[in-house]
Amino acid sequence: MTRLLITGGAGFIGSRVVAAALADGIDVRVLDTISPHVHREPPALPEGVVLIRADVADSDAVGDALDGVDAVCHLAAKVGMETGFDDAPDYARDNVVGTAALLRAMATAGTSRLVLSSSMVVYGEGRYVDEAGRDRAPAPRGEDDLRAGMFEPRDIQTGGVLRPALVGEDAPVDPRSVYAITKLAQEQLAAAWARETGGCVAALRYHNVYGPGMPRDTPYAGVAAIFRSALERGEAPRVFEDGGQRRDFVHVDDVAAANLAALEWTDRRRGIRPFNVGSGTVSTVLDIARALAAASGGPDPVVTGRYRAADVRHITASSARARTELGWSARIGLEDGMRELATAPLRR
Ligand code: UD1
Repeated sequence: MTRLLITGGAGFIGSRVVAAALADGIDVRVLDTISPHVHREPPALPEGVVLIRADVADSDAVGDALDGVDAVCHLAAKVGMETGFDDAPDYARDNVVGTAALLRAMATAGTSRLVLSSSMVVYGEGRYVDEAGRDRAPAPRGEDDLRAGMFEPRDIQTGGVLRPALVGEDAPVDPRSVYAITKLAQEQLAAAWARETGGCVAALRYHNVYGPGMPRDTPYAGVAAIFRSALERGEAPRVFEDGGQRRDFVHVDDVAAANLAALEWTDRRRGIRPFNVGSGTVSTVLDIARALAAASGGPDPVVTGRYRAADVRHITASSARARTELGWSARIGLEDGMRELATAPLRR
């Protein structure tokens, strides 16, 4: 039987990875701080799961937690978009220093398999093509364009309007936020660890994850939770830009299944390989707002034309590599998933 340590196993995604691992007959240990910022009351872990209440940077606790462990799914992190530069040291400490400490403890304990929760944010604006279908670099979106309601990125050289294309794992990385930089740093630290120790890492670059137990709307929450929370208050979802921003919303249980497929993949392999983890369905933000409003019988979305300077316009991945190499693909369709999210409990 495999013994698995899941960091952040009490969180939104981590708790579903725990459930999926238990269902597969895996012996599960959870390392989680159970931070009061995240959990209003301590969550109940499933029976048979050992909880070590500690930070990933706590070497002694992590060393003990790794005793007899074959592999680690590392989900403990500070997530979301930072709300200003004030949070930068917290992101760096939790995500970068925390991961370095975990990797050191794994090297000491001889634990050689890691499934790392990374993110699509490492790609920045994603991939764009011109009229002829050629790859082109997008220029940062200009204030004049945005104010005039022109939201599509332009070619950095010609100024022509570009079309979004699916991003593959070999696309150049371009992290645009402190959070994005820390996610890429986690991947790079894990790569160095794998080189030095002969370990193996599957870096899962998640698309926009949604589902029951999502954190309610906080400044750090994703758009699906924000819309759902507005509808719960009887308010219309407020859609930024023109609502045409493209994303891929992937259900948390599909993400949990991807963790297990990746875990199996790390067996008897070496080095690091990134995998995009998305549903394979491209949606616009307005699609999501409409689906949630319809499913909850709430007011229609309002398209505000407001914009956030740091937002990327479109980011959609190709998850073909995960399909062919991990044998994983998403199973929960957007309509079913959003119908469930419309009434599912969220985390306070
Ligand atoms: C999100 C995640 C990021 C993750 C990435 C994966 C958050 C906060 N960000 O980034 O951590 O790595 O997916 O791809 O979870 N919007 C509205 N109305 C609102 C709020 C947002 O229309 O009230 C729009 C935004 O302008 C944006 C889109 O919704 O175009 C998505 O925003 P959001 O969920 O915050 O973040 P992502 O950029 O997709």
